[in-house]
Amino acid sequence: MFTMSALSFTGRLALVTGGGGGIGRAICQVLAKNGASVVVADIKFNSAQDTVNMLPGSGDHLALAMDVSDKNSVNSGIKAIIDKYQIPPNLLVNNAGILRTNPFCEVDETTFSDVMDVNLKGTFLVSQAVAKSLLKQEDPRGAVVNIASISGRAGLPYVCHYGASKAGVMALTKTCATELARKGIRVNCVMPGLIETPLHEDIPKRKTQKVVDSTPLGRAGKPEEVAEVVAFLLSDKSSYMVGACVEVTGGYMM
Ligand SMILES: NC(=O)c1ccc[n+]([C@@H]2O[C@H](COP(=O)([O-])OP(=O)(O)OC[C@H]3O[C@@H](n4cnc5c(N)ncnc54)[C@H](O)[C@@H]3O)[C@@H](O)[C@H]2O)c1
Repeated sequence: MFTMSALSFTGRLALVTGGGGGIGRAICQVLAKNGASVVVADIKFNSAQDTVNMLPGSGDHLALAMDVSDKNSVNSGIKAIIDKYQIPPNLLVNNAGILRTNPFCEVDETTFSDVMDVNLKGTFLVSQAVAKSLLKQEDPRGAVVNIASISGRAGLPYVCHYGASKAGVMALTKTCATELARKGIRVNCVMPGLIETPLHEDIPKRKTQKVVDSTPLGRAGKPEEVAEVVAFLLSDKSSYMVGACVEVTGGYMM
């Protein structure tokens, strides 16, 4: 008989990239609260350390400086994790991301590449490094959640680079999910809409207000509202979900 397991991450080791930022910090908190040991990786080490300092629960947490767009940085981060815990992370959230907004005809090559390097290549590099390490384990079971964006599906203006990177994250999710499912690693992704974080603090308020006005719930989301969905996708409660891209948008662009 099928019995539903509780949302418990006791004994699990999670790696959350961009864990010093708004959504990443909320994800770290919900995972720690439910028993996981959490490695908080961020290009800004101090932000990662701040997150670790505020984590609840009794897990053995670690702050790590990691630039997800740099293969050496990713590999040395994974090595540091294995040195400390003797195992690779069996929960991974590829959350690190940057946003740039430019009219299509004004996007320069460097800006385009920067966004791709962090959002898409970063997700690839970290996923591959973790999957390779996990597959060497006797028990390679794990779960991965990639943070995409509704802009990867909807044709939103001024984010051709960002939207393309997030569409890439969704395609990467589905291929990884297909290849890794029978090896015991489930891969899914989340597409947030407008969430209250520092990500879009440089965007004029009247522009984000337009998004709020077009959102059926009539408000921006909170980082915790994304984190709860991520935790569900990482948990055994979503054991039959593979390659799914779940919208957490308050209904925006449904
Ligand atoms: N906030 C939103 O409205 C929204 C909507 C859709 C998707 N997202 C996605 O959610 C994720 C988290 O964004 P957020 O809103 O919490 O933004 P945020 O700016 O608060 O957090 C992003 C974190 O990523 C880190 N980071 C940036 N570049 C990095 C790199 N090269 N290596 C490692 N870490 C790096 C930053 O230092 C920061 O701590 C991103 O992938 C973003 O694209 C956010």
